[in-house]
Amino acid sequence: MGHDLVIVANRLPVDRVTTPSGETTWRRSPGGLVAAIEPVMRTHGGGVWIGWPGGTDQDMEPFEDDGLSLVPMAMTEQEIEEYYEGFSNGTLWPLYHDVVAKPEFHREWWDAYQSVNKRFAEKAAELAAKNATVWVHDYQLQLVPQYLRDLRPDLKIGFYLHIPFPPGELFQQLPWRRQILEGLLGADLVGFQLPGAAQNFVRLVRQRVGHKTHRDLVYLPDGRSVRAAAFPISIDAAGFEELAQSDAVTDRAKAIREALGNPTKVFLGIDRLDYTKGIYARLRAYSELIRDGHFDVEDAVFVQVAVPSREQVEQYRILRDEIDRLVGRINGDLGRIGRPAISYLHTSYPREEMAALYRAADIMVVTPYRDGMNLVAKEYVACRVEEDGALVLSEFAGAADELRQAWLVNPYDINGMKAALLEAYEAEPKEVTRRMRAMRKTIAQNDVKAWASSFMTELEDVSGVEHQKT
Ligand code: G6P
Repeated sequence: MGHDLVIVANRLPVDRVTTPSGETTWRRSPGGLVAAIEPVMRTHGGGVWIGWPGGTDQDMEPFEDDGLSLVPMAMTEQEIEEYYEGFSNGTLWPLYHDVVAKPEFHREWWDAYQSVNKRFAEKAAELAAKNATVWVHDYQLQLVPQYLRDLRPDLKIGFYLHIPFPPGELFQQLPWRRQILEGLLGADLVGFQLPGAAQNFVRLVRQRVGHKTHRDLVYLPDGRSVRAAAFPISIDAAGFEELAQSDAVTDRAKAIREALGNPTKVFLGIDRLDYTKGIYARLRAYSELIRDGHFDVEDAVFVQVAVPSREQVEQYRILRDEIDRLVGRINGDLGRIGRPAISYLHTSYPREEMAALYRAADIMVVTPYRDGMNLVAKEYVACRVEEDGALVLSEFAGAADELRQAWLVNPYDINGMKAALLEAYEAEPKEVTRRMRAMRKTIAQNDVKAWASSFMTELEDVSGVEHQKT
């Protein structure tokens, strides 16, 4: 007896961590992927989630966590180095994010990527019931659909890419470009954040693999067809709104402002400490506004939460040092006793504290160089229950397609960012509310449930058509 729904993702929703004192504890995994799939699994009883629990533990049994059935996939130190830190985060992550950092191509990383993908596919094949739906997630597992189809042709297979899919000129640098495309074509439905990404994919399949395509469909020689389409991901908007309105969060938001010395305006950034997020340039832009005399450290503070991420990867270590130095310099130059220009926190917080920070902040600053969607921007909007609060948002985040009323910026343009931060700082409350109201409407209509159900419905349709043919 297998499961009717199998989620396959690199990470489980909980991450095993060892504290400095040697104790092992669980904490919620970082990032947008887990934030989005967890509520989907909760509403779908009977599903199972296959993923890596973090660390190198070799013999973990399947377990239940908070009502979710989780199946841990063990990884050796070498696999973590070559498949996770290497091919996933040293090759694909920078390549798919506009080569913001230089991707590295190593053949042994590719070997590890293939063998780990194979193992995930075998586990999914073992756990799925007859004709079950398997939903594979993100760039770490792009070969799973093809491996899985070879093992279990009866399954409905969906794949969703949470990060951007690059334009052809960049994708074609990849020595294994054809294999990746063929891996994805094992799915019935390949989902992306934005329509442009789906178009890039279909075009590459036509050019590089030579299959016939028509609009969003790829026709395979064996008679199967694959659809590639956009499904912009979202958040549990009602859940965040409810949390934000709770007494505990309302009180905590007040306490945060007090602890900051009750400044007139609180700016906020919350990001994984990642070079795609544009943290450095944003803090520089902000500090220049103080230096130029537009406002003072008594008037405003910038709270930057940097969530530790991929700390074994060199580029992430370098980034951390750079940000540490920058914050130190800015506070040293501009701060006063009890009044730093930037309140910098290198840590991760539970949802409640995030909601309190969102409620405490007048201006949310989200300025990635490239981002698949960016759920932090959407969470901020959902938590602004009083319909105030300004959002400064990069044009290069997927969220900018929907949140048109944000102050949109080009994160490469420091003067442009300064102008937008200042405009948001000086904006009339009426204008801020007009914009926030419109964005709240968008988020309420397109929440994570709508996202998941539109993907699932489409997957049923595509694989249904195929069934009729056979
Ligand atoms: C992004 C990716 C996810 C990933 C998350 C956290 O949101 O799309 O696949 O899980 O970052 O990164 P990590 O490497 O810690 O899993």
